[in-house]
Amino acid sequence: MRCPTGALQFERKDDGPAEPIPAENIILIEANGPLYVRGKVELTDMDGGVLHQDTRVALCRCGASKIKPFCDNTHLQINFQAEAGVTDNREETVDLKPVGPIKFVLAPNGPYRLQGNFEIRSADGRAIFRGNKTALCRCGSSQNKPFCDGTHKSIGFLAE
Ligand code: FES
Repeated sequence: MRCPTGALQFERKDDGPAEPIPAENIILIEANGPLYVRGKVELTDMDGGVLHQDTRVALCRCGASKIKPFCDNTHLQINFQAEAGVTDNREETVDLKPVGPIKFVLAPNGPYRLQGNFEIRSADGRAIFRGNKTALCRCGSSQNKPFCDGTHKSIGFLAE
């Protein structure tokens, strides 16, 4: 359960309790690295088809992973540079508790479109944004990370 990327999973064979679903949906921004997501997470396509369900997952935000949308550490090879906070003074949009299911809709060649209550935290654990709808960059080139600013179109970002 301490595996940060969710790559290591387990199934109890002794009827012990399964891994609990985190009480809150938290997106932790790793400086120069991925988005670590905790919660009742669902990755879907644009039609709502469920591609993956998890309680912890590391999602690529450098745009170069070979196993998108998951992080494969390619950010280290390409020397991806991105702060762990927000680059604008965006205010929290909603005063809410980050509970319930959260969907990451994978826009083809575009961002993660989030649906559901969530909190974004910088790497030091500070809450920097709460909301129930936004688009997070996954091409690596937004000038307003972690949010999408439309740059994926001008750079010809490709991701299914
Ligand atoms: S996905 Fe990076 S700017 Fe939109």
